Amino acid sequence: SASVVRREIFRLVARLKQVGATTIMTTERVEEYGPVARFGVEEFVSDNVVIVRNALEGERRRRTMEILKLRGTTHMKGEYPFTITNDGVNIFPLGAMRLTQRSSNVRVSSGDEVLDKMCGGGFFKDSIILATGATGTGKTLLVSKFLENGCTNNEPAMLFAYEESRAQLFRNAYSWGIDFEELEKKGLLRILCSYPESAGLEDHLQIIKSEIANFKPSRIAIDSLSALARGVSNNAFRQFVIGVTGFAKQEEITGFFTNTTDQFMGSHSITNTHISTITDTIIMLQYVEIRGEMSRAINVFKMRGSWHDKGIREYTITSNGPEIKDSFRSYERIISGSPTRITVNEKSELSRIIQGVQEKTPEE
Ligand SMILES: Nc1ncnc2c1ncn2[C@@H]1O[C@H](COP(=O)(O)OP(=O)(O)OP(=O)(O)O)[C@@H](O)[C@H]1O
Ligand SMILES: [Mg+2]
Repeated sequence: SASVVRREIFRLVARLKQVGATTIMTTERVEEYGPVARFGVEEFVSDNVVIVRNALEGERRRRTMEILKLRGTTHMKGEYPFTITNDGVNIFPLGAMRLTQRSSNVRVSSGDEVLDKMCGGGFFKDSIILATGATGTGKTLLVSKFLENGCTNNEPAMLFAYEESRAQLFRNAYSWGIDFEELEKKGLLRILCSYPESAGLEDHLQIIKSEIANFKPSRIAIDSLSALARGVSNNAFRQFVIGVTGFAKQEEITGFFTNTTDQFMGSHSITNTHISTITDTIIMLQYVEIRGEMSRAINVFKMRGSWHDKGIREYTITSNGPEIKDSFRSYERIISGSPTRITVNEKSELSRIIQGVQEKTPEE
């Protein structure tokens, strides 16, 4: 009975203390988030208690470790994800990661001259860039250009792809004049494709970290982060993003991530996903309807620590990659998806300001 077990545990612990042994006791738990231990005394007789969980979150299993108590000293609180590999246990003490990474002023090219100019001379070397936009807006294109540029400068680059197969990526890149196969052969590029659902997020993080440790790239890209966010809890996803960005910064790797939004037109919210605050630079890609055509718009939404172009520019995709043009200068409300042309006509300009309404002037 439980009372016998309790008495015996007390006696055992008292004896072990006498002997002066450091003892690890294991006990099973009935529920992941229920009582700490089965008989309700184990945690009281122990000086330190570590809870190990393997909880089902969404459709995936997630291992976490929590230090419940550690007598006589301070410790981190809360659950931390961990994985088990051939090398043993990997714990990610994410909350404890401090932002001590030094910020460099070194810039790297995005692979597009105009975009570099829009960013005040390129991305910062140890920064994280996020390209966000609806499907088909050109995120994979920007990623490909960024990685190709690294390779041309003899900086190894790595792509972690979660949306497209290798064949698809190679074909797409080829249509923009980029030969991924050649770059891989030269040992400058490594592309890893996997299904987001093939592993838990902690395992994906572990894979990314060990692949980076092996290949030692200067640039990495994840296409797309949003694919990894499917079916996982917000907290797990946040921990993943912090884990990747923290690791990239620590290794002084430029990280380029993409985020696919489900909104085709109009402004989309990027603030509700945790990634926006963690990334240093955000590039927004957007569809705009002008003259009965779907045009694309690009905008450097934010860039920490640097001047950047605030303009919303038109850009097209050609067989040479992106072609960024001038600002949509004579248009307004571009972000809303339905821009209106601004007339330079003084009268309408005045009435526009006074009435606070936008004059819709028909085209041509
Ligand atoms: N050689 C080319 N010439 C002109 N346009 C092209 C060419 N290749 C691709 N495109 C355009 O680029 C688009 C795809 O760009 P990309 O794959 O970068 O988009 P994405 O934002 O990554 O989309 P998704 O979210 O679906 O992955 C196509 O929809 C097509 O309109
Ligand atoms: Mg893509």
